[in-house]
Amino acid sequence: MTDIAVIGLGFVGLTTALGLSEKGYRVYGYDADPEKMSCYRNGIVPFHEPGLKPALNRHINQRFILADCLEDAVRPAQIIFYCVGTPRSADGSVDLSYILEATGQMLRAIDRTDFRVLTYKSTIPPGTVRDTITPFVEKLGYRVGCDVGVASNPEFLAEGRAWDDFLNPDRIVIGADDERSTHLLKEVYARFGAPVHTVSPTTAEFIKYLSNTLLATLISFANEMAMLADQVGDVEIARAFKILHQDKRWSGAPASMTSYVYPGCGFGGYCLPKDTEAMYMQGKAKGFEAQGLRHVLQVNERVKDFVVEKVAAETPASHTIGVLGLAFKPNSDDVRDTPTRAIIQRLLDRGYSKIIAYDPLANDVFDRAYHLPITYAGSLREIAQAADVFILLTAWDEFKRNRDLFAGKKLYDFRYCLS
Ligand SMILES: NC(=O)c1ccc[n+]([C@@H]2O[C@H](COP(=O)([O-])OP(=O)(O)OC[C@H]3O[C@@H](n4cnc5c(N)ncnc54)[C@H](O)[C@@H]3O)[C@@H](O)[C@H]2O)c1
Repeated sequence: MTDIAVIGLGFVGLTTALGLSEKGYRVYGYDADPEKMSCYRNGIVPFHEPGLKPALNRHINQRFILADCLEDAVRPAQIIFYCVGTPRSADGSVDLSYILEATGQMLRAIDRTDFRVLTYKSTIPPGTVRDTITPFVEKLGYRVGCDVGVASNPEFLAEGRAWDDFLNPDRIVIGADDERSTHLLKEVYARFGAPVHTVSPTTAEFIKYLSNTLLATLISFANEMAMLADQVGDVEIARAFKILHQDKRWSGAPASMTSYVYPGCGFGGYCLPKDTEAMYMQGKAKGFEAQGLRHVLQVNERVKDFVVEKVAAETPASHTIGVLGLAFKPNSDDVRDTPTRAIIQRLLDRGYSKIIAYDPLANDVFDRAYHLPITYAGSLREIAQAADVFILLTAWDEFKRNRDLFAGKKLYDFRYCLS
């Protein structure tokens, strides 16, 4: 049976490794972050993702083996999934250094006689396998398609429901140019019972960006229309969008999809902002400016200004502002690119020096990530008593259930979730 290695055990990598273990594969996992590895060894998942902790405890040292180094993880494996980060570079394009570093390290460690498939689950711009990874691998002396296979296999899971999304995917996309790689990956995914699409690596990479840029576009459309409605005045914005969702042409669309066509205070997280920017930058580098994407990104900044302007117009700088929610979305403690950070920073820049925040899960991780000069409340009750004005920035159920705590107080619902 095929043994698998997963390199990079963050949100996507840990889910992938444990999901493949759950499907019966032996999976070797490695992450370059020793703190993460130590957590996993102790059965701890250092971020919030339902289902992963019990899965870790079910499979660790059984079908999920933590390797001491990358070399130990890849040597026994026939298929290597790369799930390392692909962060934004200073110019907005994608930083591929983690991908190339992990690939080079792997190729220097393996025995050349066994064919292996280097499978990229990380989100990489269309053309990366063709133009960057393949030449890189060949420069290290390997013939792509003969000694090793190189494939793109984008991941579509959403944080907060990653475990279920991974085990029950709606589609699998395999982008490989050689039949052996395609065959091996198809075999792995045969256990998932989902439609498998085999395409070129560049098409596979593009499909991932197609998906994320569409979601970002839907959100920015909703945000722009909500800002416009605010200017018109007298529009029940939340109701208007809910009624829009009843259009027959949307019927059957799950709430998780219509939720993107709903206003808020901007999209965030590790995917939509960086992937939309990367696609825009790639177009520009090729001489094609995707004006729609530029606009989507601009609206995502403008909506944060809208929030700040709205509060500043009615709130003296001496007042204490209570920020409800820090994570980029509810049921998550992920604060990467969360709109909350920019909104708080812009309020601080405006002279609001008394800001207190509360998030059911993300207080500590937000504080560690951004070190902003604000204070944190330990409970919703505490923040309700500590501030003069409240801005709701993450649509947590806890806020909806306890709206009574804010009765008679000024609360701006920038997620349109309380009405
Ligand atoms: N988070 C999501 O919802 C999501 C969904 C689909 C796709 N993606 C894409 O998947 C990729 C990973 O995202 P993530 O959210 O899991 O990121 P993450 O930051 O949570 O995890 C990446 C991990 O890779 C590790 N790493 C970096 N270099 C390494 C190396 N050389 N060897 C071993 N480990 C190394 C890091 O320590 C980190 O733990 C990105 O390309 C992202 O765009 C993310």
